[in-house]
Amino acid sequence: MKVIKTISEVKKERHNLKGTVGLFPTLGFLHEGHLSLVRQSVRDNNFTISSVFVNPMQFGPSEDFDSYPRDFDRDLTMLEEEGVEFVFMPSTQEMYPEGYDTWVDIENITGKLEGASRPTHFRGVTTVVAKLFNILEPTRAYFGQKDAQQLAVIKKMVKELNMNLEVIACPTVREPDGLAMSSRNTYLKPDERKAATVLYRSLKLAEKLYFEGERDALKIRREMTSLIQQQPAANIDYISIADNETLDEVDKITRPVLVSLAVKIGKPRLIDNLVLE
Ligand code: PAF
Repeated sequence: MKVIKTISEVKKERHNLKGTVGLFPTLGFLHEGHLSLVRQSVRDNNFTISSVFVNPMQFGPSEDFDSYPRDFDRDLTMLEEEGVEFVFMPSTQEMYPEGYDTWVDIENITGKLEGASRPTHFRGVTTVVAKLFNILEPTRAYFGQKDAQQLAVIKKMVKELNMNLEVIACPTVREPDGLAMSSRNTYLKPDERKAATVLYRSLKLAEKLYFEGERDALKIRREMTSLIQQQPAANIDYISIADNETLDEVDKITRPVLVSLAVKIGKPRLIDNLVLE
């Protein structure tokens, strides 16, 4: 498996691939959740390629860019074992040379949920993803449902900028106790790791209430809040019940909604979600 660092070289390699190409873009520090996306791409396409790039533009000034977990050798071994054709691993300078000034900014949908707490995050994501799409010209690109808002934002960008590829959403992969897999789980101390299961338990509580006939979003949010507050290590950033496409908050559940939340457990801020249809 080739590891390519420059845009000019990776474009040449890409043009040698004749057939469908699936792209798995990642920040790295791979886990089983990531590999499920790679495997889906390998099933769907003639070739699968990946980019591993810790994109500084999507981290806010007080966020964890410097300490974000990295193990590139392990990532490359895992990608090779899955049958990835080549990996694009650019430097920051290669992606954002001196004087870089161009941004892809999606309005409205990016100001809610994650965007409300992380105001520059999605501009960084859409800019790097648009650049990767331009450089690597995938037939399909694979993203996890765990980052539901990121997925919605990228789908909107692809549609509204008429980009020539298909965005494939892949289900969240969970630990046996329900915790959604995430590179940031490595920050959890053992007691916090136990407490972190409360995110999924609160989502399942919302689902149970919904299946029992509850349609009042405020009541469901209240029940989720009180369950999470039983964990002293947990600090709620937001709990949202929103239209699954626009991400506008709803009072009554009358159409499919995304139930999503962000909770700090000790140091890491974890997110999770599920859709009620
Ligand atoms: O989800 C991620 O890993 C990142 O946000 C992405 C899509 C690779 C962009 O840097």
